[in-house]
Amino acid sequence: MEGLLSGACARLPAALLLLLLISHLRLSSGACPCEDPALCNPISGARDFEVFIFDIGGQAWKFYDWSHITTVAIFGKYDPELMCYAHSRGARVVLKGDISVKSIVDPAVRAAWIKQKVDLAKRQHLDGINIDIEQEVAKSSPEYYALTDLVKETTEAFHREIPGSQVTFDVAWSPDCIDKRCYNYTGIAESCDFVFVMSYDEQSQVWSECIARANAPYNHTIMEYEKYIHMGINPKKIVMGVPWYGYDYTCLGLIKAHVCSIAKVPFRGAPCSDAAGRQRPYKVIMDLVNSSISGILWDEEQEAPYLEYKDEHGVFHQVWFDNPRSISLKAAYVKKLGLRGIGMWNADCLNYSGGSLAQEQTAAMWAALIPK
Ligand SMILES: *[C@@H]1O[C@H](CO)[C@@H](O)[C@H](O)[C@H]1NC(C)=O
Ligand SMILES: *[C@@H]1O[C@H](CO)[C@@H](O)[C@H](O)[C@H]1NC(C)=O
Ligand SMILES: *[C@@H]1O[C@H](CO)[C@@H](O)[C@H](O)[C@H]1NC(C)=O
Ligand SMILES: *[C@@H]1O[C@H](CO)[C@@H](O)[C@H](O)[C@H]1NC(C)=O
Repeated sequence: MEGLLSGACARLPAALLLLLLISHLRLSSGACPCEDPALCNPISGARDFEVFIFDIGGQAWKFYDWSHITTVAIFGKYDPELMCYAHSRGARVVLKGDISVKSIVDPAVRAAWIKQKVDLAKRQHLDGINIDIEQEVAKSSPEYYALTDLVKETTEAFHREIPGSQVTFDVAWSPDCIDKRCYNYTGIAESCDFVFVMSYDEQSQVWSECIARANAPYNHTIMEYEKYIHMGINPKKIVMGVPWYGYDYTCLGLIKAHVCSIAKVPFRGAPCSDAAGRQRPYKVIMDLVNSSISGILWDEEQEAPYLEYKDEHGVFHQVWFDNPRSISLKAAYVKKLGLRGIGMWNADCLNYSGGSLAQEQTAAMWAALIPK
């Protein structure tokens, strides 16, 4: 901050400088930045159906469909204007939480981290925290127990210090030690308000043929919810996460029509993975449709859309993604199982620029989240 004041602001008039300084002080001391100070109060009370979204920064939030949003997890820079607006719509805004699992074996490190997060949430008038630890943990290791303790202690501290606040934890698409994440899933779910299941990147460890596949095939996705529930996790403690992005694979060749062989890129022990592809937001994929060779195709087995195109070097690509058709199938399943709700990674992936086609595609993606 000192650098900013002495550098970029050096040429600003003194009065403006003073104003900037005052607003900086107000923010850091926790004064309410909203026009209506009541909007700084934390949101309390549960909603029937959770629509949990991730925001990665920028201004796109101004164009989100706020009619159903219940929680916004801030994975970009803190924007007080977003907090005020979300609160005016009754939506919670939560911090991101991540810390090295090696360090949290020490209870003092956990306590200091939790205190820092609670203080930050209070200062920024936020409503909780989403813990996103995607690190490897071995079953019954010191980290395995420490992680469950971290979740429990974080939930206790937030609930005590910010009444009505929400603590959630992001889990992998499968509880079967996927990506070497062997966590105590039942213990974690029990210890927080709910878990967000990241049902995407489901090809991160491919043990069979190295071919391009869907990011989140329907059957593959839903089978794992049954496992989470079978382990003893209450469906009301589970929010389904769907991807608003896909994977663009360069095909080394076609094994047969529409079967694209991909480079072997190992990940956490598996010989090939989706790391061979490139992640693309839905808006970028939609821009490829018209120049594609195929238009949007549908894979009956994976119940997922895909398309094929040739790049400027004449190289063949296959792109797998989710769209309103595949997402509504999953949303229907959320309703059928009685899960707590749905959400996506991430809300910024759609085209909010206002063109009529873009607007239509964007509205359809938001609408697909809500089970009929
Ligand atoms: C998981 O955590 C819960 C709650 O702390 C505990 O009761 C349970 O024994 C743990 N399970 C395993 C397999 O470690
Ligand atoms: C793609 O083609 C359709 C039909 O020709 C047209 O309506 C649409 O505007 C085009 N989309 C883009 C992104 O160019
Ligand atoms: C999905 O799985 C179910 C149950 O295992 C099976 O009956 C069904 O045929 C599968 N669907 C597809 C499209 O593979
Ligand atoms: C978004 O929509 C605008 C206007 O319809 C279009 O020009 C642009 O190519 C689209 N895609 C992205 C990635 O912004």
